Amino acid sequence: MFYDFKKNKPALFLAPMADVTNPAFRFAAHSRGADFTYTEMIHADGFNHGDPYAKNRGFSIDGIPYGIQIVGSDSESISKAAAGLQELFSPAARVIDINMGCPSPPITQTGCGAALMAQDFGSENHPASIIRRVCDMSEIPVTAKIRIYNDDEKTLRLAKSLEDAGASAITVHGRTRGQMYSGNADWKIIAEIKKDLSVPVILNGDIADEKSLQTAMDLTDCDGYMIGRAAIGNPGIFEKLKFYLKNGVPENLAPPDEFEGRAEDLNHYFFYLKKYHLLPHVNIRAHAQWFTKGLPYSREMRLKINDLHKDVKIRHFSDDELSEERNALAVEIMNIFSEYNEKCRREYLK
Ligand SMILES: Cc1cc2nc3c(=O)[nH]c(=O)nc-3n(C[C@H](O)[C@H](O)[C@H](O)COP(=O)(O)O)c2cc1C
Repeated sequence: MFYDFKKNKPALFLAPMADVTNPAFRFAAHSRGADFTYTEMIHADGFNHGDPYAKNRGFSIDGIPYGIQIVGSDSESISKAAAGLQELFSPAARVIDINMGCPSPPITQTGCGAALMAQDFGSENHPASIIRRVCDMSEIPVTAKIRIYNDDEKTLRLAKSLEDAGASAITVHGRTRGQMYSGNADWKIIAEIKKDLSVPVILNGDIADEKSLQTAMDLTDCDGYMIGRAAIGNPGIFEKLKFYLKNGVPENLAPPDEFEGRAEDLNHYFFYLKKYHLLPHVNIRAHAQWFTKGLPYSREMRLKINDLHKDVKIRHFSDDELSEERNALAVEIMNIFSEYNEKCRREYLK
């Protein structure tokens, strides 16, 4: 098993998120208590054709165990990519996860992500056939991340077929492909899947705080809970939820302390982006703005961050120049965080 669910139940997972869960962000989430993290989705065809994306963004800092997520349209290219990625990232890569739920049109139009769930049972590229084929060649466990259908029976049948095909765990995002990210995730069907399967089931969709986590746990008793959007710009959410799981009450931080924690996380995040040469690959302005979410003065801070280096045109920069420019930007962003952190503390102590 890629993760000891028996010893550490429930586990808190960081969801795979394109343009978010780069190695530095995964490291930040792990440092703040995430039990397990995944890469952004890596395109099987791109990897098989030598695209450096995986090499640049698929590794794990300090060899921390993690999962590699692959998105693809057919069992042959997915298994080929799975073999290559294992070779590249062994031994830290502990599991290969197959993306069967991404609803974004550029992905589904090429037969990838949630389009796989539209394949007929028994066909070569049905999710279960893909899992079987990847398991056949994989040295490490294989898992699937799915969405749900409108039809509960069909969802249960899919989940069971993935277990039978050899999946070591299944993550279920409780929304249909058509819902994209709207409406609420359906946790009831996830509770049924959990009852039906023997392998660990990881619930995903709408875990945002202590209350939603507790409700999901009561309803489903899943082995793991995967957090996506609520962790963007907020890796500290894992520490808060861990505190709650341990103590049964939410951790009540004073606003300036909460602010300071977020600023420290951002500072570490920038440090690791720089150290591991990730600055050319990450839009740090957007990422910094996510880190202001929910903080006092967040609007003012976002506007100020937006105004930094406004006249710099980065289109023709080399990677080195881009790193230098973003590094300078990071320093100014951290100054803005310090300024407002002090302001927050002064206001709070009044
Ligand atoms: C910016 C962004 C990028 C995402 N990229 C991926 C991805 O690469 N692979 C994947 O399986 N899901 C991806 N997702 C979906 C999340 O993993 C997760 O299933 C979804 O956000 C629901 O969980 P949440 O309610 O906790 O956000 C992405 C979601 C967001 C918001």
